[in-house]
Amino acid sequence: MRRDYPNLCKPLQVGRVTLRNRMCSAPLGATDILADGTPGPRTLGFYEMRAKGGAAAVTVSELVVHPDTDGSQMLKLSLSTPGQLGAFTYVADAIKRHGAIASIELSHSGQYAGTYMVDKKKKGALCQYGPSDGVRPDGLPVKALEQGQIADIVAAYANAAGLAKRAGFEMVMVHAGHGWLINQFLSPYFNKRTDEYGGPLENRVRFAREVLQAVRDEVGPGFPIELRMSGSELFDGGYDLEEGCRIAEALEDLVDIIHVSAGSYQFGFSMTHPSMFRDHGCNVHLAAEIKKHVKVPVATVGGLSDPAQMEEIVSSGMADIVVMGRALLADPEIPNKVMANRGDEIVKCLRCFVCMAERPVTQTRRCAVNPRIGREFEGMAIAPAAEKKRVLVVGGGVAGLVGAWVAAKRGHEVTLCEAQGELGGILRSERPLPFKRDMFRLGQTYALLCERAGVDIRLNTPVDAAFAEKFAPDALIAAVGSEPMKLPIPVQEDVRVLTVDDLYLAPSVAAAPIGEEAAPSAKEADSWLSYGTTEVSEDPAAAAVADLVGDEVVVIGGGLTGCECALLLARLGKTVHIAEMRDGLAIDANIRNRPILLAELADAGVDEVVNARALEVTADGVVVETPEGQRTLPAQTVICAIGQRSRRAAADALLDAAPFVRVVGDARRPANITLAVYEAWHAAMDI
Ligand SMILES: Cc1cc2nc3c(=O)[nH]c(=O)nc-3n(C[C@H](O)[C@H](O)[C@H](O)COP(=O)(O)O)c2cc1C
Repeated sequence: MRRDYPNLCKPLQVGRVTLRNRMCSAPLGATDILADGTPGPRTLGFYEMRAKGGAAAVTVSELVVHPDTDGSQMLKLSLSTPGQLGAFTYVADAIKRHGAIASIELSHSGQYAGTYMVDKKKKGALCQYGPSDGVRPDGLPVKALEQGQIADIVAAYANAAGLAKRAGFEMVMVHAGHGWLINQFLSPYFNKRTDEYGGPLENRVRFAREVLQAVRDEVGPGFPIELRMSGSELFDGGYDLEEGCRIAEALEDLVDIIHVSAGSYQFGFSMTHPSMFRDHGCNVHLAAEIKKHVKVPVATVGGLSDPAQMEEIVSSGMADIVVMGRALLADPEIPNKVMANRGDEIVKCLRCFVCMAERPVTQTRRCAVNPRIGREFEGMAIAPAAEKKRVLVVGGGVAGLVGAWVAAKRGHEVTLCEAQGELGGILRSERPLPFKRDMFRLGQTYALLCERAGVDIRLNTPVDAAFAEKFAPDALIAAVGSEPMKLPIPVQEDVRVLTVDDLYLAPSVAAAPIGEEAAPSAKEADSWLSYGTTEVSEDPAAAAVADLVGDEVVVIGGGLTGCECALLLARLGKTVHIAEMRDGLAIDANIRNRPILLAELADAGVDEVVNARALEVTADGVVVETPEGQRTLPAQTVICAIGQRSRRAAADALLDAAPFVRVVGDARRPANITLAVYEAWHAAMDI
């Protein structure tokens, strides 16, 4: 067969093992880790799903190698006694039985021990160790490791590697990036030692070399060792890409793959996990540069999900392997889809950080677009229905599309009716925002999946009780969505007040094309050094938004929607004020996305006015009341982003339209895409 992405599909020999293709699953912290540090059943399912999806290697993260000095995070795998081997063996088996290479990440977080611990008392009682004495950003003291402790930790890496091999893992990843312990030794910022582990680079790599040598001695020749490093620490005082190349050169003789990630948890979380505000593949240039300096295969990671872009990375020689983290949570089947020339069916990661935000809050994992994540064994796999039914889905937004697709995949006869002339619902509004484009395209992907699953899609078809009665479905999913709330305050005549939908769905905006995110080419690799957001003004649809508003704008409502609108307008060169009643912006954003969004707003120069109640819109702008008194925020255009209201009445009218009726998504309660997808998926599973 002719493959659409031939280079991504090529096997690669690494040591004694063969990667079946070039697409690997990044280490992703698991969900249920039992009190003794062993993986629970959901963890097994969590990793197995990506092995089944076709990844060449699936790396289990993070195995604490030395619990005595790495009190570590709230959830950590630990393999400190051979008595714990069984649970790890089951996980390795679950990965291998689907043809993937089972790998495990050997980790020591050094001074970051306990960073993500929810139990603050426990965290405060931990002792954090690093190469040098210091103070962490959260104020906790860090103690320099003594030489005896270093030797113990080196031996612990080897011990863990040996145990992992015994449990059936066929490869190990040594975590030397992201600011973790080995990275701390490599870094001139953290490592202030004056002994043979500090100072010049040949000393700073000593700890890494000792670890890798000890692991190699333990696992023997031919057993692949993958070194995960940050190509650059990406902050002033840390090592840069030039030094990253020297580090790779100094370590390559001991490893089989150099896996180039980016950044440090000290700063720049959104570099290590490129946020939606960064270009896809913004870290690839780091791998591409390191690849010029080493002979072993090089892997790249960060914001990758597009098969055409990944194919180009491999075919142009920027990297030999592409590694995906969040993209494989969103769609574990990416490698299988690439192999089967079904790349257009990939459900892309939104880079919304739901996956990372959920664990500290509920101690589970979730994915906005893949409801099975963290719930792998809860009967949510799409399975054929026992009895074929006629299903009517009302509404073609994200909830309706997911419900229709899942129901059709289960073998039901599904009709989806959408009142508008286009599918996508609220996702259509994301179109002109370059940083939300993956979300806009999600609607298109689900529409394609529905079409291929045989859903009968009827546009311009509103459904009321009479229509439904006549249609007589066995089951009905009411996914009629929500609409923007109107401004409940006086507005002087002649002042333009627009909802975000008025703006984003305006005919001139809809007519403007969206700038395709350019697939990076080898020639352009150097120019990615900007780590940038694509220039919004270069995007015709975004630029068309600019033409609809004056030079100074007030956005009323500083929730996620208002903040994103303010950011777009500020990036388009407008002077933007946000007026928010509560005492902070984007309070509805998740705890990982919010600080990144707030940093983007500050960077774009948005004037943030919190604790501000809008009283009136006048010809001069918006009069707000703040604790300091009344003031007018000047504006030629006012954007109303005060929230959504369910189309509850439309949904209620359908409650008796079929034996099985389920109201899902915004129609039930305006919330977020995670809930809409989750509810719709389940509704379809329950039919
Ligand atoms: C939910 C989640 C958990 C992660 N856990 C780990 C981990 O335990 N160890 C690690 O080295 N990296 C971890 N990472 C980082 C990923 O391996 C990867 O480097 C990062 O997400 C960037 O890749 P992506 O843009 O493809 O997601 C995690 C990322 C996510 C999203």
